[in-house]
Amino acid sequence: MSDPEVVAVIAIDGPSGSGKGTLAVRVAAALGWHLLDSGALYRIVGAMAVRRGIDLADEAAVAAMAGALAISFESGRISADGLDLTDEIRTEDTGVHASEVAALPAVRSAVFDLQRSFRKPPGLVADGRDMGTVVFPDAGLKIFLDASAEERAERRYKQLKNKGLSVSLPGLLAQIQERDARDRGRAIAPLKPAPDALVIDSTSMSIEKVFDMVMDAARERGLGS
Ligand code: C5P
Repeated sequence: MSDPEVVAVIAIDGPSGSGKGTLAVRVAAALGWHLLDSGALYRIVGAMAVRRGIDLADEAAVAAMAGALAISFESGRISADGLDLTDEIRTEDTGVHASEVAALPAVRSAVFDLQRSFRKPPGLVADGRDMGTVVFPDAGLKIFLDASAEERAERRYKQLKNKGLSVSLPGLLAQIQERDARDRGRAIAPLKPAPDALVIDSTSMSIEKVFDMVMDAARERGLGS
């Protein structure tokens, strides 16, 4: 078995709606690498805590629950303790609950090892907030994908509209700003670029352009070839 520490990692961090999820899926597919959607883990913890009536501010109780969850990502479905949560965890409310539990240090340490276990040959593309700063500080390429809050709210608005959901743009913007403030301002693993990250502002850039930039940067670093 190869040493997981030498398996290459591309870390993609950034705020919600920056396009990092889509980017990570495309980069992993292009390279034939594994994918870690770390936000989904925090979303599962938030959703399961709410389902079980656990107070989201009760750090010890949420962390104990998180550490005991059997989480599976299989064939595009995400489940915990045998419960399919694929659709439930994508709601705006679950995003807010995820960011509340993600601010608790004991919860972050409960999901730390699980995140690291995704590092398997031939490589891993890890998407989140602290992939390059905390979880995989030795990643061969670190991307920090940003975009203005207005642009991110607009993108999310279009996505939800296309799904036939009725949403308010000012409401989405307020939610994004609230989540940003909590993610950037928290004491543990705050959302910020690693010092050696390639920072890309995607506000007026297509996903194709961002993808090309990232694949060029990966090639320059000898990743995935
Ligand atoms: O990326 P996504 O929007 O699914 O993440 C949901 C929430 O989970 C974020 O707002 C953030 O608070 C938290 N998160 C985190 N660290 C990560 C990934 C997500 O704190 N690596």
